[in-house]
Amino acid sequence: MAPVEWPEQVPILTDGALVLRPWAPEDHKDVLAACQDAEIQRWTTVPSPYTAEDAEEFLAAVGALWEDRSAMPFAIDLAGERRLAGSIGVVALDSSSGRGELGYWVSPWARGRGVAGSALRLLSEWAFHSAGFSSLHMMIDPGNQPSARAAARAGFEAGRAFGVPLRESDAGDLVVHGLCAEDLS
Ligand SMILES: CC(C)(COP(=O)(O)OP(=O)(O)OC[C@H]1O[C@@H](n2cnc3c(N)ncnc32)[C@H](O)[C@@H]1OP(=O)(O)O)[C@@H](O)C(=O)NCCC(=O)NCCS
Repeated sequence: MAPVEWPEQVPILTDGALVLRPWAPEDHKDVLAACQDAEIQRWTTVPSPYTAEDAEEFLAAVGALWEDRSAMPFAIDLAGERRLAGSIGVVALDSSSGRGELGYWVSPWARGRGVAGSALRLLSEWAFHSAGFSSLHMMIDPGNQPSARAAARAGFEAGRAFGVPLRESDAGDLVVHGLCAEDLS
């Protein structure tokens, strides 16, 4: 199996309506505002409470993740909007097998208009067709219906409950939602 291919620079991906792009220091205000959201704090691993220092540290470190090939993080913009619409990326991967795990959040103001589903589709198409991934998946809490719906809309299939809670204090299992390169024609 061919290893994952890493472009030197973070590519800019677009379907016309939304754009996935590299993070920039100017995103600080919008990241800080979005990460105050209770849903982002509940369903992702961002720090809680989320402070200005957390946003600063994230933006200072995010470029190195691409450079040291440990993750592929993107900011999400909507065409015609100047505010940050969200975050998506391959958050963990096995380069030799081409398997990647995705993580994402959408800023509260941009929700309910298909941003997550479209961003998942756009990133998956690039990951399979240009970066050589063989499969992508995400772990979703069964209580997080908006995330499960967005995954389904992007073509991901839900598998059985997995024995991995999001945090050690959580009792519930996460469900794996996956997509293989051959599923995306
Ligand atoms: C999950 C999240 C990314 C979805 O973003 P979004 O851009 O609003 O998602 P979409 O508009 O693409 O789709 C949302 C789907 O959930 C549905 N939905 C929205 N709120 C819902 C609710 N309370 N209960 C059930 N379904 C809901 C929408 O109707 C839509 O379904 P449809 O495609 O069948 O119409 C966003 O809510 C978020 O950032 N949540 C907090 C962070 C998070 O959960 N990240 C993922 C961790 S696995």
